[in-house]
Amino acid sequence: MAAPRENWSSRSGFILAAVGSAIGLGNIWRFPYVAYENGGGAFLIPYLIALVTAGLPLLFLDYIVGQKYRGGAPIAYKRMVKSAESIGWWQVLVCSVVAIYYASVLSWAGNFMIFSLGQQWGDDTEAFFFNTYLQNADNLEFVFVPKLFIGLVVVWALALTILYGGIKKGVEFANRIFIPLLLIMFLGLVFQSLRLPGAVDGLNAFFTPNWGAMTDPKVWLAAYGHIFFSLSIGFGIMLTFASYLKPNANLTASGLVVGLANSSFEILAGIGVFAALGFMAQATGVPISEVVGSGIGLAFIAFPKLISSLGSSGDIVGFLFFGSLVIAGITSIISILEVPIAAFKDKFGWSRNKAVTIIGGTCAVISIALFSTKNAITFVDIIDNFANNIGIVVGALLSIVWITWLNRSVLPELISHVNRISSIKLGKTWVFMLTIVTPISLLVALVLTLKSLLTEGYGDYPMMTQLIFGWGIVVIFALGALLLSALKGKNEEI
Ligand code: ALA
Repeated sequence: MAAPRENWSSRSGFILAAVGSAIGLGNIWRFPYVAYENGGGAFLIPYLIALVTAGLPLLFLDYIVGQKYRGGAPIAYKRMVKSAESIGWWQVLVCSVVAIYYASVLSWAGNFMIFSLGQQWGDDTEAFFFNTYLQNADNLEFVFVPKLFIGLVVVWALALTILYGGIKKGVEFANRIFIPLLLIMFLGLVFQSLRLPGAVDGLNAFFTPNWGAMTDPKVWLAAYGHIFFSLSIGFGIMLTFASYLKPNANLTASGLVVGLANSSFEILAGIGVFAALGFMAQATGVPISEVVGSGIGLAFIAFPKLISSLGSSGDIVGFLFFGSLVIAGITSIISILEVPIAAFKDKFGWSRNKAVTIIGGTCAVISIALFSTKNAITFVDIIDNFANNIGIVVGALLSIVWITWLNRSVLPELISHVNRISSIKLGKTWVFMLTIVTPISLLVALVLTLKSLLTEGYGDYPMMTQLIFGWGIVVIFALGALLLSALKGKNEEI
């Protein structure tokens, strides 16, 4: 007999873990940069509209499916619509690939937390990041970099140790410690940043709305594109977490708390980072638009530069900033990995230890092998782009179209389930957002991404590298999903 399904100890345990999943690397280094690039203050309007019209509706769907069908993504989808199992496996594979590169960025943050003490990057932070630390090579050279290896081993050891602990004693326990710690550290950081001279200029740059940007479709796409990754929705994470809820837990109220907490943290991150950039612009005499680097650059090049300009008090700011990234990232990576772990447990009747060892272990080995080389940042950049802009978008789109368009009879069952147990009721507005607004936004994003990838390729990387690490993983998602759903499982009582 299979062991009974694990549970959260309480609804607050679930909410904390879901908040921990949502708040991640995406909030701290990605959001401020995306917001700035897309109209500053004016971006907050498309962002909030994307949250309400696509983010929350899809978050509710993930919660309902996970809780009602009590399974990881493939089994839950299968129990709902028999033909939908492969969509769940697509999402499982997307999560596995995301975890593989997410660990790499997380390990850089861990290393930079240590480099902050004594500001070990010296004067040229860009050269330090690319040449000294990553030892970046332009061509594919699988040359081993020991420092990257050590960081990755530490990250994977920590993530797998938490996952071996299970839902209550591992994931929930870790979030109960890490989320309050993250909040204290990050508030300390924002407070420090706001006291710096020039902070107001940074806040002005962040909040001053560029209204013209709102007529640019790219700004809207950026807002919709960001919300799925940020809220951990559409790729199985929130669905899997909800599968460990008690059958009568209030879903919509929890969803609102999680959505609100994630967005508040995101805006707080914007305030902290831009106040600091305002100071740096003033100290160096360079306009703010020039001190903002690209997503990865902002964290690992611009921030170290800023920390150096603070003198010796910079050490603590750096430690808080990179420490926050590490904590936010750890609570997210465990949620990402829980998706494949739950899927294999559920389908093949594996124990948690077996699933963590085989699935977590395989992801760890691939991640360590690929990202302790001189090509780490190339792999991160390409895989991140394809996994997010194709993997997550296609997975979310397929799940919505399959459930709400092709199997419409399921929707009333989902609505009656959620309304029976939740305080805030879902009705026509939710259905409209979920079945029309969300899929259209996903479809437009996908078409534009495909058009640009097929005509221009991605970045300046050689075609072969893009084929293997970009398109190659998309092929793995598709073939893997079909293969895994065709395999016969155990414990598949429908
Ligand atoms: N939601 C997580 C993040 O923002 C994955 O990083």
